[in-house]
Amino acid sequence: MGSEALVELEKASRGRLAVVELDVTDEATIERAAERVGEETRRLDLLINVAGVLHGPSFGPEKKLAHVDPDALRRVFEVNAFGPLLVAKHFHHLLRHGERAVFASLSARVGSISDNRLGGWYAYRASKAAQNMITKTVSIELSRLAPQAIVVGLHPGTVDTDLSQPFQRNVPDDQLLTTQESAASLLSVIDGLTTAATGRVFDFRGKEIPP
Ligand SMILES: NC(=O)c1ccc[n+]([C@@H]2O[C@H](COP(=O)([O-])OP(=O)(O)OC[C@H]3O[C@@H](n4cnc5c(N)ncnc54)[C@H](OP(=O)(O)O)[C@@H]3O)[C@@H](O)[C@H]2O)c1
Repeated sequence: MGSEALVELEKASRGRLAVVELDVTDEATIERAAERVGEETRRLDLLINVAGVLHGPSFGPEKKLAHVDPDALRRVFEVNAFGPLLVAKHFHHLLRHGERAVFASLSARVGSISDNRLGGWYAYRASKAAQNMITKTVSIELSRLAPQAIVVGLHPGTVDTDLSQPFQRNVPDDQLLTTQESAASLLSVIDGLTTAATGRVFDFRGKEIPP
């Protein structure tokens, strides 16, 4: 994993930030990370899963059926869909403390089936739709075990990151968010969530994205 900036931030934080390694495609690392966090605290108020992949050195979003590749499909589903599910599996006990707790996974508007007007991007779209179903299903289980828990998907907007970089040409400048703008908006959306939001997906303005 990269994350050099995060490690620098940890060094400057005087113990306020602890970086724990975790690869969402490697369950043992998720289990170890949850144990490590569990040594620090018995309760989490907020858990955000940001891991996501759209393209890699050997694959990119498919423009047509002929581009569909099983290895890329597996990789994208492993990170985008199975990742949040395994994170929920190993961390959910830390959200079951009887008070408000939020588990948010960064999703994407293109994961909305009803909003799909352009087609293409098979692996990414389908993996984010699967992620949203997992969000809903986890929310139902947690509503029984931890009624104060709120499980949501969040669309961060189109944000200037490595993930969106190859596709920014068609995005008007005023619609491309900086990472700081997106993170600030998402945190304010999270602050406003109540248990009525659980199982649903919202964009960075707090507007619900239909399934
Ligand atoms: N940027 C956008 O316009 C946009 C739009 C809609 C949705 N999203 C979603 O927002 C989320 C963040 O994307 P981003 O734009 O910040 O992309 P990014 O710059 O490519 O960052 C991706 C993040 O995912 C992490 N990651 C990838 N594979 C992982 C794995 N196997 N285990 C653990 N972490 C892993 C990376 O960690 P390392 O750096 O350590 O590898 C990095 O922190 C994703 O879920 C993406 O689908 C982004």
